[in-house]
Parts: sequence; structure tokens; C-alpha cells
Amino acid sequence: MFANLPAAKDDPILSLGLAFKDDPRSDKIDLGIGVYRNEHGATPVMKAVSIAQQRLLDQQTTQAYIGLAGNASYNQAMLGLLLKGSDAFSRAIAMQTPGASGALRLLADLIASAKPNAKVWLSNPSYVNHQPIMQAAGLDVGFYPYFDPDSKQVDEPAMLEQIAKLGPDDVLLLHGCCHNPTGADISFSAWQSITELALKNGFLPFVDLAYQGFGQGLIEDIQGLQHLAQQVPELLIASSNSKSFGLYRERSGVAIVVGETLQQATNARGKLFELARRSYTMPPNWGAAIVAEILNDAQLSQQWQQELNQMSQRMRDLRQCLAQEFALQSGSERFSYLTQHQGMFSLTGFNQLQLEQLREQHAIYIVSGGRINVAGLAKTFIPRLVESCLAVGV
Ligand code: LMR
Repeated sequence: MFANLPAAKDDPILSLGLAFKDDPRSDKIDLGIGVYRNEHGATPVMKAVSIAQQRLLDQQTTQAYIGLAGNASYNQAMLGLLLKGSDAFSRAIAMQTPGASGALRLLADLIASAKPNAKVWLSNPSYVNHQPIMQAAGLDVGFYPYFDPDSKQVDEPAMLEQIAKLGPDDVLLLHGCCHNPTGADISFSAWQSITELALKNGFLPFVDLAYQGFGQGLIEDIQGLQHLAQQVPELLIASSNSKSFGLYRERSGVAIVVGETLQQATNARGKLFELARRSYTMPPNWGAAIVAEILNDAQLSQQWQQELNQMSQRMRDLRQCLAQEFALQSGSERFSYLTQHQGMFSLTGFNQLQLEQLREQHAIYIVSGGRINVAGLAKTFIPRLVESCLAVGV
């Protein structure tokens, strides 16, 4: 049966994590997978999460099945977190999924069921999983320009020029705040232009968003999304709680469908149920139950927001320190883009040879393509990191 299977290709992000784990060097630095770490290199359980878990355990009376849609109170809370205040809130459904990757696949399958000839447009570059997920659902994939490697900012004119060519058979996959692997986010005015183009040309916007609260704040970070949701007739959202609640291994995510009417969104939910049933059936409970417990309790929600703010403040501080150290050691300002990016990631432009040398000679692990996870740093590592980067010629 398996004799003709070729050897599998490693996932560039997950395999890097395994290689890091196996590296015996004590001074190794992991800037790979998008996981938040504190100054001691740990990814602690958030206090709000610990409190919620204890409450859930104390109140638990059953482990019986919940149903295809998952936790109803979680679904409602996630709709509130992302869409409350926009017109879309009253014509949207949410369905709990195994992480945002699960939501991406389910929504890709939904698109393929509704419009098999649809083409999904991804930013160049995009999250490594976007293309394989869309293609696994049978969808055609195209790319729109995004990152300008010289300025290290979004090339919005080039991006909008391509998006202006999309029509009713196209789906535009956008990254929410801090989500793009480059660290460069689109401006509010680009969100406005995209909204106008979607209304005029009829393509379907699809937003993937896992880092709400990692940029300027919970509300500020979804300003663009809310503007879009307020106006377009249809919208898809995949979102995750892995990062903002530190619930990485619980695979807590949500798929949201905004329809022209609530009835249309409800019909789409019926299709999502069918798609889930023939795949994983039901999402895991625990992570979503924790999120629902937190978001439905004002005090706990406040505690979570404080912890989230501390994490994003730490990432801003690290960016400042890193840029300052680069300026000091290189005598140039060419790394100042690090402070203009936000969230965990920055696309450095380091080439493959430099990345290999960093890994082999300096025990520094960076994803191929040159994306660094700033949140994997400790301040004490920064001088050695910068020295090593400059030594390999960045
Ligand atoms: C990442 O981009 O590092 C994470 O989202 C991990 C993943 O699922 O690939």
C-alpha cells in the first residue's frame, strides 16, 4: 500500500522547531515558530487562563459530546470580539474549529462547494500553510504583490493594482493585524480601498487573523476588518486563540461566515456542519471553553487584556532594543524597519546561506525565507544575536 509513497517534505516551521529541540548547544536561540516567550524563554500559562481552567474543572459535570458547532457560548463570544458594532454582526454565524488552520480548511471547502472554479488570491509572501490548504480543497491559487523588500513595508499601490483586477469568481485572502509573516501590516486606507473594490467588483474577502491585541490594542487592531465587515455583503473570517490566549496546544479556533442575510449565513453553516462531519466531526472542547469563560466574565476579561497588553509591550520593547543594537554595531540605520513592524514577526531578507550559517555556526534558528519571531528573544541575547547576524554578512 505505501511502497510508492515518496519521502515527505518537511514543514519549514515545524521541522525547524524539532531541529532546535535536538540541538545540544546551551546558547541556542529560537526565532522560528510563532510562539510568545517571556524573558526567561518560557511560554507561561496566562493567569486569566489558569483561573478559567480551575473554574471549569470545579464546575464540570460531564464529558458528553457538545455538537458539530462546538461551544455555543464561545461562538457567540468570538462573534462579539471580532464583529460587535459592525453591520455584519447581525448576519453572521460562527463555528468552533480545531485552530484557525482548521477554520481555513473548512472555509476553503465551503468556497469549493459553493463555487468550484473560484480562485483564492494570497499575499506574496503569505503564511506557509495558506497555499497547501487552499489547494487541498481543490481551489486555484494566485498571488498579489505585498512586500517591498527594499523599504520592508507593504507595497500598497502594487497590491491594490492587482486587487482591482479581481472579480466575482475571486476570493481575496487578507491578513489581520500582525498576521502577515513580514511584520508589515496594511494601512487603514488600504482596508478602505479594498472595501470599495470588493463592493464594486464583487470578489469575496476572507480574513485570517490570529494576533488581535498584539499590535495597538484589541479594538484598534480590528479597525480595518470592522470597516470591511460594515460594508461588504459577504465575508469569511478564520481566527484562532492560540496566540492571544496562549492556548497553542488546545487548537481553539473559529470559522465565521457573514452572509448577505442571516438566512444565507445559516445555510452556509449547514454546509460547514456537513464538511466537518465528513472530516473531524467535532472540535476539541477545552480551549474554547476557557476562552468562553474569560470573555463572558468582565473581571477575567480585564485580567486577560492586561496580560495581553504586557505581552505586546514586551514585543515593542524588544523591537526597540534590537534596532538600537543593530544601529550601534553596524553603524547604520538599515535595521530601523524592525520598529515599524508590529507583532511577533519581521521579514529580515536574510538569504538562505546566511540562515544556514546562523544555524550551524551560531545556533540561531530562523525560518527559511528569513522570518524572525521577535517574541522568541530575551534582551540578554540581543548583543550576541546582532554580532552573529553581522558576522554572516546581513
Ligand atoms: C507560525 O506561523 O509560526 C505558527 O502559526 C505555527 C503554524 O501553525 O504554522
